[in-house]
Amino acid sequence: RIPIVIDTDTAQDDCIALLVGLLDPAADLRAITMVAGNVGFDRQIRNAQMTMSVAGRLGEVPVYLGCRRPMVREWVSAEYVHGDGAGGLTMDFDGLAPDPQHGVDALIALAAASPGEITVVCIGPLTNIAMAVVKDPSFVGNVKALYIMGGSNNARGNITAAAEYNFFVDPEAAKTVFDAGFASITVVPWAPVTLADAVFSREQLAHIARIDTPLARFYTRIVDTTLAFNFSVGIDGSTHPDSLTAALLLHPEFVESRGGYAVDVETGSALTRGYAAMSWGAHGLAENAMVIERVDAEAFSDYLVALLSTDTTPS
Ligand code: BDR
Ligand code: CA
Repeated sequence: RIPIVIDTDTAQDDCIALLVGLLDPAADLRAITMVAGNVGFDRQIRNAQMTMSVAGRLGEVPVYLGCRRPMVREWVSAEYVHGDGAGGLTMDFDGLAPDPQHGVDALIALAAASPGEITVVCIGPLTNIAMAVVKDPSFVGNVKALYIMGGSNNARGNITAAAEYNFFVDPEAAKTVFDAGFASITVVPWAPVTLADAVFSREQLAHIARIDTPLARFYTRIVDTTLAFNFSVGIDGSTHPDSLTAALLLHPEFVESRGGYAVDVETGSALTRGYAAMSWGAHGLAENAMVIERVDAEAFSDYLVALLSTDTTPS
């Protein structure tokens, strides 16, 4: 089993990525760390707890609260995309407190406790990861790998023309991470791979809606708000950047094409804030990341459908 920590701004597809980490037998999910991103911080905590509850694993994996805003900039909400991030779903968890240790300290401690073993799946802004680098530079050498959802490999952004949300929100953090010297970074960008290979059509969603499990019902509920947004901007289905990132770490056989790139992130310009420059060999720069270019869309969707078909009803 692969030891992982998921660093998340839990809304919609982050929840599905958590299901991957919680339920795929290939994963040894050691912790969840929370970072400011998609929706209000407390709402994100609640979304993570609801996801753990639906998976039948509430209280089994520690949740550490990390940075509540980006390193130097104001927080940028994606509530206009995700609503509350869980389709208005509510559950009552009074008394279930997150772990008192700060998320950045937890990341540093978890990596130091198992040097060279932990892979961090980064599916929100990179604030916690960059702060761990700043606070304890040995974090870089203690981590086995980072799997990062962020950027676009052809400058098709989703929050601006140039930028994808996670890198836009905290570009200084993203730049810090790519400059830090991690031994292994894999990037799953918004475009082209998420848009090309990880959008579920109306037919696929109708199929999931017919699966009679708590997980499939949860999925159908939580993707609804983002789906409506997607249709309004011409994306023809439900997007899975975060769950794809978690799945590819556990199942590299889904990858059809990847390449070594020199990745850097724009922090100076207002127009292109958070733009990810992904330079390939022709530009003569030293590679610092592997970028996923295409995946087997059918294998990924079959995988998620099988996961959502798992019956987590307590016996
Ligand atoms: C990223 O931003 C969020 O909306 C998603 O969870 C994903 O991590 C896509 O740009
Ligand atoms: Ca996310």
